[in-house]
Amino acid sequence: MKSAICPGTFDPPTLGHLDIIKKAAKIFDKVYVAIGSNSRKKEFAFSLVERTEFLKKITQGIPNVEIVTFPGLLVDLAKELEASVIIRSIRNITDIDYESIQGQMNRLLWDIETLYLIGDEKFRFISSTLVREIASHGKRLHAFIPSEIEASVFEHLYRKRTKI
Ligand code: COA
Repeated sequence: MKSAICPGTFDPPTLGHLDIIKKAAKIFDKVYVAIGSNSRKKEFAFSLVERTEFLKKITQGIPNVEIVTFPGLLVDLAKELEASVIIRSIRNITDIDYESIQGQMNRLLWDIETLYLIGDEKFRFISSTLVREIASHGKRLHAFIPSEIEASVFEHLYRKRTKI
């Protein structure tokens, strides 16, 4: 059985993330969507529990997807789950630079390849940071966030903003 890990911080998960997860699920028997930490990101808008729930909701129609969390290194999770490959998405030239460094480091840490998928054009401009900013100014997120979680994501971000 060929399995893959699709890692990220998913703060919050977007239509762009879902696009990549769906593409990976068509290629592999099993896809682990793995919520990890990023040393460049100290604070998250959504808790680990909330992000897990969001991902479960938006992938519930995809039977070969499982949501997992990991506190440490991605390669350690890959070993533990016996995943064949890491999936990363490429949206633009900047992603290529960043991703190639991560991919090489992961290959050095453990002999695992990264497969790069190019997302659909209509999602390539999306990032979780932009989504958080747009919601904080009161704009709805239907164009960026899966419909199953749009209201919860919007309300959480807008409420947080209006408290400031
Ligand atoms: N569509 C839309 N947006 C996308 C996207 C897509 N297909 N792919 C990525 N993005 C966005 C994300 O929303 C995120 O936006 P943000 O920075 O505004 O939050 C941004 O692109 C970066 O996402 P991503 O590349 O997935 O990084 P991340 O910070 O979410 O996750 C980890 C990075 C968790 C995978 C990585 O840090 C990791 O492996 N950590 C574990 C520790 C480890 O092993 N470190 C050594 C690595 S060599």
